[in-house]
Amino acid sequence: MADPIAETAAPSPDGWEPRIIAFLCYWCSYTGADNAGTARLKYPHNVHIVRLMCSGRIDPELVTTAFARGADGVMVCGCHIGDCHYISGNHKTMARMPLLRRTLEAFGIEPGRFVFEWVSAAEGEKFARLVRDTVAGVRALGPLDWPGRLRARGVGHGRDLQPWGAQP
Ligand code: FES
Repeated sequence: MADPIAETAAPSPDGWEPRIIAFLCYWCSYTGADNAGTARLKYPHNVHIVRLMCSGRIDPELVTTAFARGADGVMVCGCHIGDCHYISGNHKTMARMPLLRRTLEAFGIEPGRFVFEWVSAAEGEKFARLVRDTVAGVRALGPLDWPGRLRARGVGHGRDLQPWGAQP
């Protein structure tokens, strides 16, 4: 059987690796990611996880900031509807994220760079698959360089658009 991450883990010929930021709610999706690790399910290392208590805490500005600071893709995951530990937090997520997706498109960010999905604590396999698919999709799109795109259009300047790791 083929290695499930063979295609997604292989660096591109020029060595570029997509950087994916995943905002996960603590109670379901983070535990799902943890389960994927415990079950030794393989997924690409490109994903950098940011844990929040609830997907309802994920302000759209967190997502745009991730893109503005150099992310090539962003994932947002939370509990399935009806499972939110704060009752209605993910209802806010469900209202915000489709709107955010359209806003990002208007800013020139391709839909494949923004993934929004429910992942329960028991869905380690789903999380691993989601990461593999996201990395493969972003790899096909290539580097985003949103700061560069914005600068080229004369938008933004200074520290707010420094890529990660860059000294102000
Ligand atoms: S606690 Fe997971 S979405 Fe609210």
